[in-house]
Amino acid sequence: MSKQRILTGITPSGTPHLGNYIGAIRPAIAASSEINSQSFFFLADYHALIKNKDPELLHQSTLEIAATWLALGLDTDRVVFYRQSDIAEIAELTWLLTCQTAKGLMNRAHAYKAAVDSNRNDGEDSDFGINMGLYSYPILMTADILMFNADKVPVGRDQIQHIEMARDIAQRFNHHYGEHFKLPEVQVEEQVAVLQGLDGRKMSKSYNNTIPLFLTEKQLKKHINKIKTNLLEPGEPKDTETSTVFQIWQAFASEAQTAQMRQAFAEGIAWGEAKHQLFQLVNNELSQARERYNELLTEPAKIEMTLQKGAEKARAYAAPLIAKLRNAIGIRKLS
Ligand code: TRP
Repeated sequence: MSKQRILTGITPSGTPHLGNYIGAIRPAIAASSEINSQSFFFLADYHALIKNKDPELLHQSTLEIAATWLALGLDTDRVVFYRQSDIAEIAELTWLLTCQTAKGLMNRAHAYKAAVDSNRNDGEDSDFGINMGLYSYPILMTADILMFNADKVPVGRDQIQHIEMARDIAQRFNHHYGEHFKLPEVQVEEQVAVLQGLDGRKMSKSYNNTIPLFLTEKQLKKHINKIKTNLLEPGEPKDTETSTVFQIWQAFASEAQTAQMRQAFAEGIAWGEAKHQLFQLVNNELSQARERYNELLTEPAKIEMTLQKGAEKARAYAAPLIAKLRNAIGIRKLS
């Protein structure tokens, strides 16, 4: 039996936070060690380019995100770990797929529609500030997936529509040129926690309520102390359900530790003490990775070499497929 191919892209934008770690990075790295599957993880720098037009920022972010995944223990001997832009075949496939994609399908993409709506609300022209990268984003994502004939694509809820579009585009291509692509399936982890941020809403860069993943101990402590609580005094029982401190605790703790904290809440643990314990728990899980991360940042050549090795592995899949596709669509040598 051949292994299930799991593929997902990581957009190098901004600094990863605890929500990314709990919701995406930790489960992906855990899944990548399962023997019945083969994981493809890549830095989606072409996707980042759609928003980020600052060359230094894009470059730095790519370095940081690569260092993050490596520091957290991604095993690049098992996993195909590469940078999207190193695989020229992906850009080529994007065009082949673009020519099979209905414009009407792209009109329906949530991210694009949201941008149009926001322009209309602001009384702007509906196309204001929208580039073709944003518009065609789902086609690039489709190429990422189909290039490696992925079986499963783990993503957040906001990306489900893009996987449906990928299936749609793959079907059209198959219908016209023959069965070249598997239809990918979306995988949304139901059990994985969506972490709450400092203000109790979902932890998200756009709410400015995050706890970055690799802070110094001092900064981590400071951030955890900023988590919103209520005015209950020490000794007064506290509600676990509505507490962000408890929610983050649960995401890092064992079952036994969670039960202990539940008990402590019932017995009226002081917020200061609960936060102190939370700091220790989170810091324990991250401190070694933090050290590796800081080390890796001083050795970009080492990271680059790892990415180049990954690209070589990835191209071993991409090159033959693109050759086959070129032939199928009639782009061939004349003699
Ligand atoms: N668009 C995805 C996100 O923002 C990242 C991504 C790019 C991706 N290409 C992909 C995810 C292919 C899965 C498969 O999260």
